[in-house]
Amino acid sequence: MASLLRTVTRSISRPASRIAPIRLQRHYASAATSALAGDNGTPALFPDEPTGPIIRTVIPGPKSKEAIERLSKVFDTRSLNMMANYGQSYGNYIADLDGNVLLDVYAQIASIPVGYNNPSLQLAATSPEMASAIINRPALGNFPQHDWADILETGILSVAPKGLNQVFTGQSGSDANELAYKAAFMYRRQQERGGANVEFTEAEMNSSMTNQSPGAPQLSILSFKKAFHGRLFGSLSTTRSKPIHKLDIPAFDWPQAPFPDLKYPLDEYAAENQAEEQRCLAETELLIKSWHAPPAAVVIEPIQSEGGDNHASPAFFRGLRALTKKHNVLFIVDEVQTGVGATGKFWAHEHWGLDSPPDMVTFSKKAQTAGYYFGNDDLRPNKPYRQFNTWMGDPARAILFRAIIQEIARLDLVQNTAKTGAYLYAGLQRLAEAFPNEIQHLRGKGQGTFIAWDSPRRDEVLRKAKGVGINIGGSGEKAVRLRPMLIFQEKHADLLLEGLEKVFKS
Ligand SMILES: Cc1ncc(COP(=O)(O)O)c(C=O)c1O
Repeated sequence: MASLLRTVTRSISRPASRIAPIRLQRHYASAATSALAGDNGTPALFPDEPTGPIIRTVIPGPKSKEAIERLSKVFDTRSLNMMANYGQSYGNYIADLDGNVLLDVYAQIASIPVGYNNPSLQLAATSPEMASAIINRPALGNFPQHDWADILETGILSVAPKGLNQVFTGQSGSDANELAYKAAFMYRRQQERGGANVEFTEAEMNSSMTNQSPGAPQLSILSFKKAFHGRLFGSLSTTRSKPIHKLDIPAFDWPQAPFPDLKYPLDEYAAENQAEEQRCLAETELLIKSWHAPPAAVVIEPIQSEGGDNHASPAFFRGLRALTKKHNVLFIVDEVQTGVGATGKFWAHEHWGLDSPPDMVTFSKKAQTAGYYFGNDDLRPNKPYRQFNTWMGDPARAILFRAIIQEIARLDLVQNTAKTGAYLYAGLQRLAEAFPNEIQHLRGKGQGTFIAWDSPRRDEVLRKAKGVGINIGGSGEKAVRLRPMLIFQEKHADLLLEGLEKVFKS
């Protein structure tokens, strides 16, 4: 078996897999034979993965229970989904402490791009360059490391959305959005003031210190009902997905526009859906024109994710882009969850066919770093320290994203995701015909593996899926959301479909 594994490793030229943890290879060796075959002749992207889930105990099993109990004494475990053993997790499979190994189509809330213990990432993670970035972490605004431009150009900026050529790096998705909002406010006030060279007035400076206008102006960010943009103070004001995130937290009085509530199947309701999108655009325009604190920017997710996997058409987003241009409001696309390949394009907004790029695109999750892309030089504040913090990003995480980008290119993973997504969607359509009660409003056609549906017993389905060896997440009140990694292939889709069928029959 070991020699067979080595042959395949060589034939698809994965020299880096030599450093895959020996323990893992041995652990899965007995299951490896059929993993060697890919989909319809396509090579397996993770040839030494297990062939399928391994279920040894109910989940959580005895060892997990013990560990959870211990952790609960020092850390809040009430949101715990599953206690994992990352040493034993590999490729598309997440392991627990009791020997259970699950096909993971949730992937750390849509955040693992190229597989657990990916050998290429292990190489990047153990490089001297990475070690230096970790132990000599620079405060990038003051003391950037000598090769920061190189790291950015060969990494984050090499995949910048078309039309955007600069980046401000941050720590998390919420942070990225807040930084983008601040850039939007400063841009707006700079325009009103008459340009970058116009000095602040005494009144502006003094009033900023008492949180009053004009220094702290009455401006807003417009977001959409059911949107999710994060949980920090500013981003939370634009989040509208669930009360539990917002309760007890003071919030800005900012406008929320309706997000289209599309009817499915889309082709049967084309006229109604078009009218619904027009209604939402009209209300958005009204809010832009009339809200007492004028929006400096509109922020939107290409697919509302945490809020229940809500989609709108490319025409809607083009209409929104046109509205923001018409009213001189910035257009921020939050690609924290949709970005980095999952929709079958590197950035989901590439599906829209925009005439002019978004003003800012925020990213995090699968990028493992965070920030916002922009192209207009005027989005750089006119003075230093206006957009600043200690770290201003992290070279270690940027180096990791560069390795992820290289792995995506090497294995053509965006194309893989588009192809696997189409295959999976077709399988789900068949399953929906057989179990119309279980799969309702299937959505995500043509959007790679970014697929979801509504389920009347969603939480039970997610729980039972673990029992058949599949880790799935939910979104909103009733959606089952699929967020597999970019190395998810048709053979994994088959396992998922088989597992779902078992759950639906139970
Ligand atoms: C679209 C979107 N924006 C922002 C965020 C916030 O990201 P983070 O949790 O990294 O702050 C999320 C997280 O789920 C998200 O899905």
